[in-house]
Amino acid sequence: MTAVFRTRRSDLADLYRIETLGLANGRRVQIRPIAPLDAVPIASSFHLLNEDEVRKRFLHPIKALSEEHLYQLTHPDPDRAFVVVASEPLPPGDAMIGAVARLARDDDNRSRAEFGLLVTHFVAGMGLGRVLMQRLIEWCARHGVRELWGDVMDDNEPMLRLAASLGFHREAILGSPGLFRITLAIA
Ligand SMILES: CC(C)(COP(=O)(O)OP(=O)(O)OC[C@H]1O[C@@H](n2cnc3c(N)ncnc32)[C@H](O)[C@@H]1OP(=O)(O)O)[C@@H](O)C(=O)NCCC(=O)NCCS
Repeated sequence: MTAVFRTRRSDLADLYRIETLGLANGRRVQIRPIAPLDAVPIASSFHLLNEDEVRKRFLHPIKALSEEHLYQLTHPDPDRAFVVVASEPLPPGDAMIGAVARLARDDDNRSRAEFGLLVTHFVAGMGLGRVLMQRLIEWCARHGVRELWGDVMDDNEPMLRLAASLGFHREAILGSPGLFRITLAIA
């Protein structure tokens, strides 16, 4: 039933707002929904990421994002997915992207969604992870998503601490040693 997930127009506009933040290192960033034109800067700066942050985000090593992944990331279906970035305060296409948070509803259950988050080491430790996760949680609350979940390596202390402070609980995943599934119940 689509009506269950209908959101008021004003609420929707608010979810897709652009905020400008000043970081502790003096940089200014915009928190905004991803745009199709972000694909080129994201693809061309992927090699600047270190192996550890890529492994923690994707749970295995990868050298580049596939065309398909990049397309889906930068063209989220508004009924199913939401992607928010921390970017330089420049137009999409010109701006470097410092952090990306994505969620997508489960295929078999629209009231659950999986998230992925990467705050690059250039801007980590300055609160962006928390800000981006809060934007995902806000989207969930207004779109009928009752559980936000993700799989996190058990040595990923920053993510586990951030998640715990946001109210996620964690559990071991049967058959996947070294991973925790973290889940947030959303009112
Ligand atoms: C995990 C990650 C998202 C944290 O993002 P961040 O922007 O650095 O986090 P924040 O600055 O918002 O910190 C929020 C909380 O995280 C924890 N945290 C952040 N960096 C930490 C560190 N180096 N060590 C321990 N805890 C840390 C703290 O609890 C912090 O709490 P505080 O707000 O009271 O200080 C980021 O390090 C990252 O993208 N890592 C690689 C990819 C990844 O692990 N993704 C998660 C799985 S999808």
